[in-house]
This record gives sequence, C-alpha cells and structure tokens, in this order.
Amino acid sequence: MQKTILVTGGLGFIGSHTVVALQEAGYEVVIVDNLSNSFAFVLDGIRAITGILPRFYEGDCNDRDFMQQVFSKEKVEGVIHFAAYKAVGESVAHPLKYYHNNLVSLIVLLELMQQYGVANLVFSSSCTVYGQPEHLPVDESAPILPAQSPYGNTKQVCEEIIRDSVQAGMPVKALALRYFNPIGAHPSAHIGELPIGVPNNLVPYITQTAAGIRPELSIFGKDYNTPDGTCIRDFIHVMDLAEAHVKALDYLLRQDAPSLYDYVNIGTGKGHSVLEVVQTFEQVNGIKLPYKFAPRRPGDVEQIYAKADKAKQMLGWQARRSLDEALRDAWQWQKALKEKGILEKMQKAEANS
Ligand SMILES: NC(=O)c1ccc[n+]([C@@H]2O[C@H](COP(=O)([O-])OP(=O)(O)OC[C@H]3O[C@@H](n4cnc5c(N)ncnc54)[C@H](O)[C@@H]3O)[C@@H](O)[C@H]2O)c1
Repeated sequence: MQKTILVTGGLGFIGSHTVVALQEAGYEVVIVDNLSNSFAFVLDGIRAITGILPRFYEGDCNDRDFMQQVFSKEKVEGVIHFAAYKAVGESVAHPLKYYHNNLVSLIVLLELMQQYGVANLVFSSSCTVYGQPEHLPVDESAPILPAQSPYGNTKQVCEEIIRDSVQAGMPVKALALRYFNPIGAHPSAHIGELPIGVPNNLVPYITQTAAGIRPELSIFGKDYNTPDGTCIRDFIHVMDLAEAHVKALDYLLRQDAPSLYDYVNIGTGKGHSVLEVVQTFEQVNGIKLPYKFAPRRPGDVEQIYAKADKAKQMLGWQARRSLDEALRDAWQWQKALKEKGILEKMQKAEANS
C-alpha cells in the first residue's frame, strides 16, 4: 500500500524535484502550494518525468480551514514542509511578512498533524543557522549563531518550535534538514529553478547572463580570505537534495519511538569558490560569461561547507552528483525555458494571477 506524503511548497524549486524523487521511490504525493513563488504548469513537468500527476491543492498553509480540508480528505502519513519565503534581502525589508509566513505555516501544520495523528515531518532548514562557523567543514555540533536576517531567524525559530513540541511530548518524529546551496535542475530539463524577477542566487544569474537576459554577472567580493578571494559555498545538486528527503522520510518511518527530533546537514562536503563555479560553468558548457567584481554584499559569510557524515551514517545518504553535472543541468534547463516556451507560460500565469 503506497504511503501518502503531503509536500507543502511542492511546486517550488526543491519541492518539485523532491516530488519526483518521492514518486520514483513509490510514495504517493499530495501537493499544497499557493503559487506565491511558483506556477501550476510545474505539474506538467513532474508528470512528463514520472508519468504521474500528483494531487494538487492550491491554497495557503497559513489558512487553517483550508489545511484542515486537505488533512481530512487525504490519509497523510508524512509531511515535507518546504513552503516558506526565502529571499534574505526581502526579509530584512519586510520582516513581518517573513515571520508570519514561515512561522505560522509551521504552527498550523504541527497542530493539524497532532489532530490527525500524522507522525512524520521533514522540515526545510538551512546552513544559515551556523552563520560563519569557526571550524570547517561545519558539523551539526557547531553552535547556532545569532541570525543575520529575519529569514535566517525564521529557520532557527522553526527548528526550536519543532524541538520544543517534541520535548513537550507531542507524538511527532521530525528531522530538520540543513541544506547547503542547492543548484542545478532535473537532467530531463522538464523541471528546474524558476526565479521570478532578478535572481538572488548565483546559478540562475549565471544561466540568465549566458542566455543574454542579464548583461553581466557581478561577483560580490574578491578580497575574502580564500584562495581566489571569492566566497566559498557547498553547492549541492538539487536531485541529490531531493533524494535526501526520501531517505529522511524512510528513516522516520522506520523509527519505533513515538517522538523524536534531530537535525542533519545536507551538503556535498566540498567547498567551491564563486569564481570556480563561473569558470566551471564556462568550461562544461563552452560559453564565455561576461562578469565583473563588485563590492562585498552585506550578510554574506566568507566560506561555509558541510561535514556530511551524519547524513551518511543516519540516513545512508550522500551526494553523488558533481558540480559539472549540476552546471550542465542548470544550462539545459535555462535553454528549455526558451525552447519549451516556459518563459511565455510564466508570463501568462503571472498575467492571469
Ligand atoms: N533554495 C535555497 O537556496 C534554500 C536553502 C536553504 C533552505 N531553503 C528552504 O527550502 C524551502 C524550499 O526552497 P525553494 O528554493 O524550493 O523555494 P521556492 O520559493 O522555489 O519554493 C517554495 C514554495 O512554497 C510556496 N509557498 C510559500 N509560502 C506558502 C504558503 N504560505 N502556502 C503555500 N505555499 C507556499 C511557493 O509558492 C513555492 O512554490 C524553503 O523553506 C527555503 O527556505 C532553500
């Protein structure tokens, strides 16, 4: 009997790839998304890969009545909670918007999980909880530093909300996955990252520059204390990250304890500099990118990459795909956006909303 998993934010970047990985692992998927940062046509991309159209409920995770209807209709056995706002800069300008969306959605979810006896929760956390760690690679025992932004703070507080609920005896088994930097796209180019407006992240900015949508890429800071002076990050292929969610869910479903809370780094264990990523993109795709160096961006840590041993031991998961692969897949996706008319679909969906 297939287990039904509720994926909130399942039409977003990481969510959509995770839906594919869940379906391929034999789970039945139900998606809740309010399309605030995604499009309904992502469902077509998912079906093109797996042949299965997941059930989709359009609505807001903060809307208790709506969420209650989903829980009462579906026999949910696990939840993966991606739905959140994620733009660091915007969170500084609009903190309440971020605290409201990211905290209330989790609280509503936990209350309904308790009410409907749903025991398993995988939560999207982030390596931002570590700030600039003293020791690299950073492992899960590193201290949680004061958050640099309201967005980062929502991830810390959400982890605390889950931890406190479990400590208080709520019958939930929960894992917070602390993602490093997800990049790339599904190798079929049927789904990928769809940033609305000017991208905040490096790789979509690179692919849009390569496609001629942006005139030039800015690399923020060339005077960091790193071998080439640019920031270092742990870039993880989004399909590796998606598969980590399946492993996390499998793990929770195997646990006999009625409640548990733990947190795990999900990264490759390798750091690559921003300049290295730009040069690798050029190399693997045979494209010359126009780029310049710009001043440091406030809030960027100098370098961070994961010690990912806990994920290997606990979940039996490790990243398998290379940076080359991720950057090739990202470029194929950018090209598909044009070839498959996805940019036009985006414009149409935005005009209709
Ligand atoms: N992408 C990253 O670099 C990164 C890194 C660390 C953690 N995360 C976290 O992972 C999760 C997924 O990130 P992503 O990159 O896929 O983002 P995304 O914006 O592509 O996906 C989030 C999805 O959630 C939906 N959503 C937002 N608020 C909602 C609400 N109240 N109700 C229903 N749907 C809602 C959006 O429409 C979108 O489809 C987020 O929680 C994010 O904070 C992302």
